[in-house]
Amino acid sequence: MPSIVVKALLLATLAFTHLAHSRTLTSSSPNSTSTSACPLEPGEQSSQIVNHPPTWPYQVFKSSPFTPPKLQITTNGKPLAPGLLFITPSEQSAVVATSDVAPLIMTDAGQLVFNGPIVNATNFRHATYKGKDILTYWSGLSTAGANVGHGYGNVTFLDDTYTEILTVCPKFGLVTPDNTQYPCEADLHESYTTGRDTILVSAYNATPTDLTSVGGPKDGWVFDCLFFEIEPESAKILFRWSALEHVPVIDSKQPLAGTGLNQTVPWDWFHINSVVNVGNEYLVNSRHVWTTYLLTAKGDIIWRIQGDTGGDFGPLPADAHFRRQQRHPPHQRPRTPPPPPPSNTTPVVVLKDLSDPTDPIYADSQGSTEILPNGNTLMDYGQIPVLKEYGPGADVRYTARFAADDLVQSYRGFKHEWHATPTTNPSLVVEKNGTRGAGYVSWNGATEVTAWAVYEGPSKRELGFVGRVGYKGFETMFGVAEKCVQVVALVGGKTGAKSNVACT
Ligand SMILES: *[C@@H]1O[C@H](CO)[C@@H](O)[C@H](O)[C@H]1NC(C)=O
Ligand SMILES: *[C@@H]1O[C@H](CO)[C@@H](O)[C@H](O)[C@H]1NC(C)=O
Ligand SMILES: *[C@@H]1O[C@H](CO)[C@@H](O)[C@H](O)[C@H]1NC(C)=O
Ligand SMILES: *[C@@H]1O[C@H](CO)[C@@H](O)[C@H](O)[C@H]1NC(C)=O
Ligand SMILES: *[C@@H]1O[C@H](CO)[C@@H](O)[C@H](O)[C@H]1NC(C)=O
Repeated sequence: MPSIVVKALLLATLAFTHLAHSRTLTSSSPNSTSTSACPLEPGEQSSQIVNHPPTWPYQVFKSSPFTPPKLQITTNGKPLAPGLLFITPSEQSAVVATSDVAPLIMTDAGQLVFNGPIVNATNFRHATYKGKDILTYWSGLSTAGANVGHGYGNVTFLDDTYTEILTVCPKFGLVTPDNTQYPCEADLHESYTTGRDTILVSAYNATPTDLTSVGGPKDGWVFDCLFFEIEPESAKILFRWSALEHVPVIDSKQPLAGTGLNQTVPWDWFHINSVVNVGNEYLVNSRHVWTTYLLTAKGDIIWRIQGDTGGDFGPLPADAHFRRQQRHPPHQRPRTPPPPPPSNTTPVVVLKDLSDPTDPIYADSQGSTEILPNGNTLMDYGQIPVLKEYGPGADVRYTARFAADDLVQSYRGFKHEWHATPTTNPSLVVEKNGTRGAGYVSWNGATEVTAWAVYEGPSKRELGFVGRVGYKGFETMFGVAEKCVQVVALVGGKTGAKSNVACT
């Protein structure tokens, strides 16, 4: 039997075929001024790096207040998958180790594309909802103490103008260890749009349970792990699943270690990490049972694959054992028919072992693996703030570090193509530069700008077209001859939004 990892079996079977998302750009009313006749000045990319340890080096701009990390990048020069990186840096300790706690979109060259609101977020990614390309992310409160590693929050849906189209703030009536009530009760681990205009979210619920089977008290307490399928607009619950109702607590690999005695210290016996739908069925992943379950649409277990015994798949190949795993979330691609779920009569073989021998990483928690449309794989190392992109043959094509180990995390990381034109206006600043001026323009989230049309004049009311400068990334810098300046975004050959007028 060839050597491989179980995870890779699931990975391979669940890799949906990529569909190019063709779309039409919406542009604001065209400006009749012909801007293409004039010469294109190169312009320059502008960002400065600030280095204040222990905060990881970060970028600053003149025209926007954002402070994204400077990515430390290595590549082997082989082709990377097209698309942008989606990460959610957040602090893991009291040390201020990142300058930007926010959902971020960056290019793989380390340019900022979009800086979301300053929130602790997870699962920032592309989704399809009601036939439209959108972005979703979870944000909310991460908890500490007995409740560590769980969260209570909501899921934001953004359209391709970054307008918040809705926020899913579910209320499940959860019991928490200290009876704190949270306004929104979606857990941080999972928020997955299904492709049928519903969303799956996880939840942790302190629940009284008989723990005598594991040597605990009869009146013990656990965190039951729930997942819900929800209709996003109405927040109507369409389906509820409880781990405690389907899995015996004795299956857990998590030691009691003094927990489970009362409501204040529930035993985190299951620890749901992920749930996705595969056709009408669900795949649920438990970190602390070291198991992934395939469920029927009604929630009954079809099979389990367990990292130690293999579960219903029988003994695993020697190099295929796993523990505390994150099952990879497949990119939801509803326009293709879902593949059949793997059957437990399929022997477990290791298809691929993705690791970097020159940079071995042991991440204790979190992380994600995403098979990209060109056959590459993006791996996010969770607790270790590193992304790696592997080639189809498992060669390490790309590594980006965005903070120091164990100080900053990105729960998951994704790479997708994304096309967006914000409803905000480009932001322009002009500074004196000797006898002339220097202009700086940025437009948070814009992906379609090809150049900036520049208008200058002696006053705010007397501006005339002087030429174009090429788009150079998040912030473009260009020379200004007159006192006042304004720029207009050129999007798909048409004039788009105008910046403010700036004068020296
Ligand atoms: C086109 O841009 C010029 C310069 O900013 C402005 O004077 C004019 O009003 C604009 N036309 C339209 C239709 O927006
Ligand atoms: C993120 O969560 C941590 C830990 O709960 C908290 O200390 C920090 O203030 C939060 N940051 C933001 C931006 O909400
Ligand atoms: C969603 O969560 C954020 C915190 O991340 C909070 O600021 C916001 O008010 C919440 N929205 C709703 C509708 O509850
Ligand atoms: C719950 O159990 C913990 C661990 O034994 C103990 O420290 C705590 O005092 C108990 N709390 C209550 C309310 O009994
Ligand atoms: C600012 O002035 C310096 C010195 O003349 C020049 O090299 C630089 O290109 C100018 N910057 C811009 C944005 O024009």
